[in-house]
Amino acid sequence: MTTQETRIQTPDLVFPTGFVWGAATSAYQIEGAVSEDGRGRSIWDTFVQQPGRVVNGENADVAIDHYHRYRDDVRMMADLGLGAYRFSVSWPRIQPDGSGAINSKGVDFYSRLVDELLASGVDPWVTLYHWDLPQALEDAGGWPSRETSKRFADYAAAVHDALGDRVRNWSTVNEPWCAAFLGYASGEHAPGRREPAQAVRAAHHLLLAHGLATSAMRAQRADSRIGGSVNLYAISPQTGSEADRDAARRIDGLQNRFFLDALLKGEYPADVLADLAEMTGFVQDGDMEVISAPLDMLLINYYSRFTVSGTPGGAASAAAAPTGTGSPWVGSEDVSFVEGGRPVTAMGWEIDDSGLHELLLRVAREYPRIPLVISENGAAFDDVVGADGVVHDRERLNYIDAHLRTCHAAIEAGVPLEGYFAWSLMDNFEWAWGYGKRFGLVRVDYETQLRIPKESALWYAGTIRRGGLSGPAE
Ligand code: FCB
Repeated sequence: MTTQETRIQTPDLVFPTGFVWGAATSAYQIEGAVSEDGRGRSIWDTFVQQPGRVVNGENADVAIDHYHRYRDDVRMMADLGLGAYRFSVSWPRIQPDGSGAINSKGVDFYSRLVDELLASGVDPWVTLYHWDLPQALEDAGGWPSRETSKRFADYAAAVHDALGDRVRNWSTVNEPWCAAFLGYASGEHAPGRREPAQAVRAAHHLLLAHGLATSAMRAQRADSRIGGSVNLYAISPQTGSEADRDAARRIDGLQNRFFLDALLKGEYPADVLADLAEMTGFVQDGDMEVISAPLDMLLINYYSRFTVSGTPGGAASAAAAPTGTGSPWVGSEDVSFVEGGRPVTAMGWEIDDSGLHELLLRVAREYPRIPLVISENGAAFDDVVGADGVVHDRERLNYIDAHLRTCHAAIEAGVPLEGYFAWSLMDNFEWAWGYGKRFGLVRVDYETQLRIPKESALWYAGTIRRGGLSGPAE
């Protein structure tokens, strides 16, 4: 065996045995088949039909047709050697109007998907809510209404009852920050409302939904592992000035601590409640105990760092919304988001793996004893198919490599990090950005639905096979 072969087979950075190597998607972004087998309408079906909501007026009626191609997609996952696949269940497939009778054809689809994954050696990780609220529930008030939390618990229990015998790992709500503040404050996401006070109520009810669902699922089975997924950012003040430091405190409060403190300490941070002033008062007795019921793991989605300034009108960062929207930063609308001087992805998001390191150490220190999983991390770039038919996406590969190195360093430093899911397995419908932003490890030709693993996918497959990273970072 040559030295070269030895080096390839024995990675320099070995991850612990049992580390979960995965990739993630969500229902609305990939499934298509929006009117099939009794699926009801979701807020995204309504939103994409409204002019000006999505770049180029695109929608996900067909998306990448995963609903019909799931068997081939699972085979591809197995070929890549994925240990786990995180997908979401579409609530309106299970309960077309968000409550009442279960649509058995909807349940059957996910049941077949789970069976296919298990038969292929890929562990299914289910997310119960990745933003596709049944339209009927939005019509009844949406997430600003407390009732929606209760409906969610019933839906979660129905899915858990059907799949809990085969699915061990569960995530309740994905990124409640986005669902609440992009959905109800800025209006960038469905349902597109711009009602800041309602957005804060929505955030509370998404957390309450998580808590109620967790208790309902625990009552069904003791062996399920349950967590919630939060999107955390590293946050830096632009300068050491008091105004900039206060801006960082505010954004860290709304983005990170509001959710972490509620889930893991059973309280909202006092400074954030003060910033929100009269937009509070929705917490009822017992809510915080429900929200902070013990979790088996915390799922973290990490993409970037924000650099913020308390001086309005600073040099705006490139990471703007694609459509005309308001501010998601309820009560802190004057904070400016400025460029931090790092390279950016096609989303304009600054690439900063040190931010992930910082966050992992912080979460492990401030919220100890909870196992962590990176449930999303990845990057959009303007991929080109080379003359050889391959997408040589070195930038994406380097992004994931750098963030995995950070994960390894965090584990070495004692952080209880148990797994990593790349976002995304395949190119897909990127919400208000439509199909223009490609996050996939696998390229999808939207005309033919052909899937072609990019260089990053092949590299990730090798990383999984070796159980770690070889060679120096580039
Ligand atoms: C996250 C979402 C996911 C995808 C990535 C890029 O906020 O959870 O659906 O859009 O961003």
